[in-house]
Amino acid sequence: MEFEIRTLKPGPEPKITGPKVFGVRPGHPVLFAVSATGEKPLSFAAEGLPPGLTLDAQAGRFSGTLSERGEYPITLSTKNACGESKRSFKFVVGDRIALTPPLGWNSWNCFAEDVDEAKIRAAATAMAESGLADHGWSTINIDDCWQVRHPDPGRDAEGNILTNDKFPDMKALAEFIHSLGLKAGIYSSPGPLTCAGFAGSYGYEERDAARYAEWGYDYLKYDWCSYTEIAKDKSLAEYKKPYEVMRAALDKVDRDIVYSLCQYGRADVWEWGGGVGGNCWRTTGDIVDTWESMSTIGFSQNGKERHAGPGHWNDPDMMVVGQVGWGPSLHPTRLTPDEQYTHITLWSLLAAPLLIGCDMTRLDDFTVSLLTNDEVLDINQDPLGRQARRMSADGDMEVWMKELEDRSQAIGLFNRGSSPAEVAAEFKGRRMVRDVWRQQNLGPFDDGYKTAVAPHGAELIRVSNPE
Ligand code: GLA
Repeated sequence: MEFEIRTLKPGPEPKITGPKVFGVRPGHPVLFAVSATGEKPLSFAAEGLPPGLTLDAQAGRFSGTLSERGEYPITLSTKNACGESKRSFKFVVGDRIALTPPLGWNSWNCFAEDVDEAKIRAAATAMAESGLADHGWSTINIDDCWQVRHPDPGRDAEGNILTNDKFPDMKALAEFIHSLGLKAGIYSSPGPLTCAGFAGSYGYEERDAARYAEWGYDYLKYDWCSYTEIAKDKSLAEYKKPYEVMRAALDKVDRDIVYSLCQYGRADVWEWGGGVGGNCWRTTGDIVDTWESMSTIGFSQNGKERHAGPGHWNDPDMMVVGQVGWGPSLHPTRLTPDEQYTHITLWSLLAAPLLIGCDMTRLDDFTVSLLTNDEVLDINQDPLGRQARRMSADGDMEVWMKELEDRSQAIGLFNRGSSPAEVAAEFKGRRMVRDVWRQQNLGPFDDGYKTAVAPHGAELIRVSNPE
């Protein structure tokens, strides 16, 4: 298949990438690693670091705690044989975490029930060694199927959740993931069973939250499924309840755990997901690797933007680029390269959690290029935390716009049709236009910008005021 790699390879000079802000609760361990590209070895430093925090100069990993609420601006720097680069950064200590959308990987879209500990370790190793972690990718999430299968009670005599034979030691697994500078995620359901029929958390929420913390997990996906049997009257209160119960349990542990609600968008979860303490919530049913599935989900997010912001994100589901397949046999995504540009462009503009769904040990150059474009990732991770909205739709041509912290705008030009088309974005007066994927300035344009967009394809520009 013919395809165009748009992303430039990183140069040898040091460059800090990744989020520019990190939220942590008072007194909870700070788990944050600075990411940077450039020739190794790199060394790291931080100016203005508040007492309580230390930075490992070789690994670029922070550790410690901050007990006073407030904002702590610092300057990060990284050096190598080719030079030095700096970036402003901020720790925010308060009730909110996930101040930028989670950036990570999840096991479901490739392995589903075929997952095991070795595959999770391999994914984490690949995240670190493929260079993806250098661009800010940071979380390795185990999805369903680590627990004991029903009808076995799935718990010991004290009620502690048991793992199946494929996951002999969840604590050692989290430690391994942390040893690579990454964070670890786990999965459960509020009902008695998970979606794939393993033991869920119903009736054991506090015990499970305590276990996740003791094991060292940093992210929980909490997936509705069998709670349908419990929520008999389908009232809004019934939809919220299991998420409130787990929220209260998570609030009792002394660890920050990103709380990802999964109930497929029922009862307009975007209206109340933040209110029940979710850091993100799925807005749709499960994605598959077809144009119809991906584009229907992605382009239907318009209108939900007012519910997204730092600490609370709409989640249009995990990504379907690379080798996917829901286990045991994988195949290259059925999305064409242009459709993959649409997928990553749209999810970035939507400030969606970006969760890679493919086999991390079999990344090809094109997939790596889609996932390592720092200017695209910066749009997703922009600290203002706005989600794009649709500015115009003209037949198959759509223009979506995301406001950014520096007062520039990221604009996606999409062609949902099956023949080439010109797509136009309008703006007022003279603005500077940059091609984000190709990282090139296109020059000043007056009152708008128009370009050819491939069938099912996308272009992404950043528009700013002239200096
Ligand atoms: C549901 C979720 C998926 C995945 C599976 C696991 O279908 O939506 O993302 O977690 O359950 O069984």
